[in-house]
Amino acid sequence: MGKLDGRVVIVTGAARGQGEQEARLFTAEGARVVVADVLDDRGEALAKEIGAKYVHLDVGREDDWQAAVAAAKDAYGHVDGLVNNAGILRFNTLLDTPLDEFMQVVRVNQVGCFLGVKSVAPEMSDGGTIVNTASYTGLTGMAAVGAYAASKHAVVGLTRVAALELAGRGYASTPSAPAPSTPRCPTRPASTRRPTWTRRRRGSTGCTASSCRWGGSGSRRRWRGSRCSSPRRTRRTSPGSRS
Ligand SMILES: NC(=O)c1ccc[n+]([C@@H]2O[C@H](COP(=O)([O-])OP(=O)(O)OC[C@H]3O[C@@H](n4cnc5c(N)ncnc54)[C@H](O)[C@@H]3O)[C@@H](O)[C@H]2O)c1
Repeated sequence: MGKLDGRVVIVTGAARGQGEQEARLFTAEGARVVVADVLDDRGEALAKEIGAKYVHLDVGREDDWQAAVAAAKDAYGHVDGLVNNAGILRFNTLLDTPLDEFMQVVRVNQVGCFLGVKSVAPEMSDGGTIVNTASYTGLTGMAAVGAYAASKHAVVGLTRVAALELAGRGYASTPSAPAPSTPRCPTRPASTRRPTWTRRRRGSTGCTASSCRWGGSGSRRRWRGSRCSSPRRTRRTSPGSRS
């Protein structure tokens, strides 16, 4: 029996990279996954391979979100989870960053997360989970990634607010409590990695963790309150992983 049996999860930016690995892992754990991306050929091929559903979703477009949620419900009947994974990175010093580039990064990383929460949370089963993919640079500074770091700081703030605003939803014990997550480039084969889902207790306040992290093969689903205010919370990274 998988850890995510029966769950329906939308993963954005799932055609490649971390999103692809998340889609593969969730499927292996029994979830029904909606692979969402703008890379249609690649996304469709992945969905076909793992038995998921592909939807074209530009995370910066509200109408795309509405269509994606409708497609997910049409295919699987309900939605239990969202991984706001889609993100882009541009390297430039602040003084050399064109406004267009800054806005492009904000549109995907920040507005995309906002629209994801806004579009999916109302449709989600109570007790569902939203993971907003932030970054180490969402908690500290790093030269030459100003637009990216600003957008990821915004993701952390958005997630904190979402955790508070959505904490009242959900059944008896534990409603969803979204928090940023930084699943880095996996260095081990997918077959040896497992997700660790953590949630904050109902009614508690503050920033929370409902994040999908790659723990060891012995890790298991557990409920615990946890804060994400410290950068240490996100330092489950592999050597050489970027931003
Ligand atoms: N790779 C890392 O080390 C690292 C570290 C920290 C955080 N992150 C974050 O993790 C997430 C995934 O990173 P990755 O390295 O796998 O990136 P990637 O570039 O390999 O994949 C990103 C995916 O997002 C998709 N995408 C881009 N713009 C989109 C849009 N407008 N709508 C929908 N999909 C869109 C791309 O097509 C691609 O499939 C990002 O949010 C990134 O900021 C990555």
